[in-house]
Amino acid sequence: MIHARITGTGGYLPEKILTNADLERMVETTDEWIRERTGIEKRHVAADEQSTVDLAEQAARRAMEAAGIEGKDLDLIIVATTTPDLVFPSTACLLQNRIGANGCAAFDVQAVCTGFVYALGVADKFIRAGGTKRALVIGAETLSRIVDWTDRSTCVLFGDGAGAVVLEASEEAGILSTHLHADGRYESLLTVPGGVSQNSALCREGRAFIQMKGNEVFKVAVNTLGRIVDETLEAAGLEKSDIDWLVPHQANTRIIAATAKKLNLPMERVVVTVAHHGNTSAASVPLALDVAVRDGRIQRGDMLLLEAFGGGFTWGSALVRF
Ligand code: UT7
Repeated sequence: MIHARITGTGGYLPEKILTNADLERMVETTDEWIRERTGIEKRHVAADEQSTVDLAEQAARRAMEAAGIEGKDLDLIIVATTTPDLVFPSTACLLQNRIGANGCAAFDVQAVCTGFVYALGVADKFIRAGGTKRALVIGAETLSRIVDWTDRSTCVLFGDGAGAVVLEASEEAGILSTHLHADGRYESLLTVPGGVSQNSALCREGRAFIQMKGNEVFKVAVNTLGRIVDETLEAAGLEKSDIDWLVPHQANTRIIAATAKKLNLPMERVVVTVAHHGNTSAASVPLALDVAVRDGRIQRGDMLLLEAFGGGFTWGSALVRF
């Protein structure tokens, strides 16, 4: 039986940093409020000349180097992003040309903060179906372009970045299962209410910004992530104690802690990076994964639970034997 196995990870954060102290000078907020309510200390912001594909390229190159492969070896590229460079071509096509992978399948996936988990699920199915041997799966965002920097309820939360993994077909188990869900009823709680085909004036005027009813999103996120933990363990016939590492979407330390509690996992077994880059949407799970792989916490053979929740609402998980 063919499995999809993670053979390399990579991450990239733009150089420019915006600290909580910087935000205190921009909106009515305090470092104390941001840390207490979210756990965030700073976020990275792309330079004016940097776009999502630039961030994706850096993360992709690092993941390919770790896997020991080159662009020409790839059969598939999936970029999960809410902030694509252009309406088209897709960011995946732009990236493909940069890394010399011309000819392979390449497309974007849009599932907001759950985007990477969705993209991983899709790539896993491509590999297990046969024919696709090597896939590059990326989450990359320049959320700073859709943040209203005068709205304190959202601007303190988000940041830019990219994370990537290389998946390769293997006889050894890798991705054991993925669980993907969405419920469009919650559109109004978390949205950028302007785009190409609806409210396009907002885009033209540069006012298409993230709007979020944070408190309501928080409650649904905690409940939903609790449910998906049960669903994932049940499908695999695993116990909570079988999970070595939780690699969650990095939106808020309080949401992460609630999910860890549900798993009876001490926080030492949870990868938490939100303090360093805020909520980077689709980039957050692969960024966290890359950090814990590179610092040696996550070892070959460990059982990982990846999970995310975001706009749509979308939510999902992946159970991975690393
Ligand atoms: O990644 C996609 C999924 N997104 C999420 O998971 C985010 C989920 N939501 C959250 O993480 C939290 O709801 C927030 C961090 C966004 C907000 O925390 P909260 O504890 O839910 O605060 P709140 O929205 O209930 O607001 C509490 C108070 C309000 O003041 P009043 O009405 O109590 O006087 C806000 O106006 O905090 C105020 N507030 C702020 N104060 C200082 C809101 N933003 C700020 C701020 N600085 N930046």
